[in-house]
Amino acid sequence: MEVVSFMNMKGGVGKTTLAVNVAFTLAAVHEKRVLMVDVDPQFNATQYLVQDDRYLSHISDNSKGTIRDVFVPRSLGAVNTTTGLAKPQNKAKMDLSACILTIYDGAKPGFARGGKGRLDLLPSTLDLVEIQTSPRKTEDKLKHYLKEKAAHYDYVILDCPPTISIFTEAAILASDKYVVPMRPDPLSVLGLPLLERYIHDYTADAGQKLEQIGIIFSLVRTPTPTAMKNIMNDLRKARKSAVFESMSTLSTHVAESVEYHRPMIYFNKASSKVKEQYLKITAEFLKRAEK
Ligand SMILES: Nc1ncnc2c1ncn2[C@@H]1O[C@H](COP(=O)(O)OP(=O)(O)O)[C@@H](O)[C@H]1O
Ligand SMILES: [Mg+2]
Repeated sequence: MEVVSFMNMKGGVGKTTLAVNVAFTLAAVHEKRVLMVDVDPQFNATQYLVQDDRYLSHISDNSKGTIRDVFVPRSLGAVNTTTGLAKPQNKAKMDLSACILTIYDGAKPGFARGGKGRLDLLPSTLDLVEIQTSPRKTEDKLKHYLKEKAAHYDYVILDCPPTISIFTEAAILASDKYVVPMRPDPLSVLGLPLLERYIHDYTADAGQKLEQIGIIFSLVRTPTPTAMKNIMNDLRKARKSAVFESMSTLSTHVAESVEYHRPMIYFNKASSKVKEQYLKITAEFLKRAEK
């Protein structure tokens, strides 16, 4: 099992779109067993992958959990009417199978490609924000939970929020590697050393080694304006192999694919050129991650 975070301190740089599409393509094309963990209270990855009614019935079912239950034990269970004692229900120890939604299962008939690939989602919720004020050590819980409950996956992909918070800290501590989705504009490039220094400082304190898989350019305009090209070329020169060769360009179909809860490779309206980009990015991700 390898845990990989998609991380950038800036929002709107394509983190969620890349994380979801890479996770799905790993499962559907490369036959990997993948767990996508939505660590962002904005739950965009969850919204991308799950239809609203399915999500609503999941979160309103008391026997089901979300990422929130990894961080905080659920409130006391029902009071026993004879003893008067409340039975604590520690959902942090709740089994992962009660918290996930299966998004893709190649072993089930009806899935286009067959095979043993699988994508499960550990969804997020809006009320995750309440955890910001949780006691210390909450940030360790995701790491322990995944070690204990998710060892049977090939990859665990974490979609992170853009701000420094208990969730980014939890994701860093839980991760073996990380990817930096980046929009090639001057301000986003400025954020890169800040992110790297933050990760370096944070992991050094924890005695952890967190390897950067690479930087993926996203939301690249086509045709690409010269200024944007220069930014990309400069970063490639400075960072050499750290920058992915493959990238994702702007496509009007991304927003629609979110609405339809379809990853790009299965979204009929997406051009074959755009589908090809996500196939290439995922293949390159795999090559780098397995190195
Ligand atoms: N390749 C793309 N083409 C067009 N729109 C995109 C593309 N990638 C992402 N978007 C859109 O840009 C916005 C930000 O992307 P998102 O993946 O949510 O970024 P982040 O997670 O970094 O905030 C979203 O509305 C998303 O649908
Ligand atoms: Mg996001």
